[in-house]
Amino acid sequence: MAKKLWGGRFQKETDDLVNDFNASIQFDQRLYKEDITGSMAHAKMLGAQGIISMEDVGAILGGLQSILEDVEAGKVEFTADNEDIHMNVEALLTQRIGDAGKRLHTGRSRNDQVALDFRMYVRSHIPTVVGQLLELETVLCRQAKKWQTAVMPGYTHLQRAQPISFAQHLMAYANMLRRDITRLEDCAVRMNECPLGSGALAGTTYPIDRWMTAKELGFDAPMSNSLDGVSDRDYALELMSALSILMMHLSRFSEEIIFWCSWEFKFIELDDAYSTGSSIMPQKKNPDIAELVRGKTGRVYGDLMALLTTMKGIPLAYNKDMQEDKEPVFDAIDTVEMCVPVFSAMIDTMTVLPENMRKAAGRGFINATDCADYLTKRGMPFRDAYTVTGRLVAACTAQGKTLEDLTLDELRAVSDLFAEDVYEAINLENCMALRKSYGGPAVSETTRQIEAIEAFVAERTAN
Ligand code: ARG
Repeated sequence: MAKKLWGGRFQKETDDLVNDFNASIQFDQRLYKEDITGSMAHAKMLGAQGIISMEDVGAILGGLQSILEDVEAGKVEFTADNEDIHMNVEALLTQRIGDAGKRLHTGRSRNDQVALDFRMYVRSHIPTVVGQLLELETVLCRQAKKWQTAVMPGYTHLQRAQPISFAQHLMAYANMLRRDITRLEDCAVRMNECPLGSGALAGTTYPIDRWMTAKELGFDAPMSNSLDGVSDRDYALELMSALSILMMHLSRFSEEIIFWCSWEFKFIELDDAYSTGSSIMPQKKNPDIAELVRGKTGRVYGDLMALLTTMKGIPLAYNKDMQEDKEPVFDAIDTVEMCVPVFSAMIDTMTVLPENMRKAAGRGFINATDCADYLTKRGMPFRDAYTVTGRLVAACTAQGKTLEDLTLDELRAVSDLFAEDVYEAINLENCMALRKSYGGPAVSETTRQIEAIEAFVAERTAN
């Protein structure tokens, strides 16, 4: 059994069960690049401050570079005997360059090391997710532009409510995703402070330069308090909160996709390449992607809950509980990064069936508000107009008719304010087109929304 890096004060070897129980290398090996980059910055700073010799710095940088290359070439086998990625890299380094390798950990602890590695990992995935979301925004704008005059029923309580366009419905999601993107950008700004140099918890007596390492590693500043530096996992929680909200949006959208492509609705049809069949029912075409996105949302919420719960009772500063931070965060990031591109492709390739949307819009009295508004604009108080229209709806329902089916005489029987122009006022295309209030479904307004999202995307993809 290999000697532990921390074996000095121990008289016995670690029990094998404990060795495996304690180790995190199985999952934290994916931090190898952050670990090596962080160590390089630390070594340069130790050299610049005269804490170790420049010769040692050269050897350390060369050794770390060779380890990085070997890991990337798949030539390195990590071992649970060295517990985690930090001690695996350090042990490899010392094997390769001897004593200089043993000087790397001067003025540093695994506590600030892991805090740094993990923070850099989380930070590096924000642009990936944002990039995927910008692509989804582009897809939504592309689809929305095609369907600005496609009337569909807008719903409340899943009951047909008022006429909207399919573009308006899509742009609602585009606006949610825009907030998701800015939420991710906000947390990237807040997390960009460097924990390295916090030491185990109480800083160090060596004359380290925390500004130098912070700058070298792309942080805005070192974290201000060393205890906070090693204890803080807010950034991971913030990321997972933002990812949970994002998944909630995708899950609601998925739910709609699922019923839109059912025979009961048939507002859309998913592309064959983005649907699946049944092993027994030959007719089936299932929206598995949307269902999986909806299902995986629970998983991402679970990841957030797991870390919130881990963190809630731990005293300052580092406690081993915190080793449990990594798997949920990796899982949440992996899950989201898998969901968004496939979701975008599904939306991009779906076939929209505007005739079916229009047909659905024709039943359900979604122009009843407009009928009441018609009477109101001709002098009847809105509340009375509402009651009159309600009576008309009840009569139509009993006779299996729509409001448009009623003759002018039938309409005038309930109010003599009705005139020939009522048919224009309750025509669904007009009802939608005239909803020009800011944020409404009229073409001028969906055009404004599409342009705003396109500008938002362009600002972020310009360079
Ligand atoms: N593998 C540990 C983790 O992920 C690294 C920090 C260990 N620090 C310690 N004092 N045991 O949290």
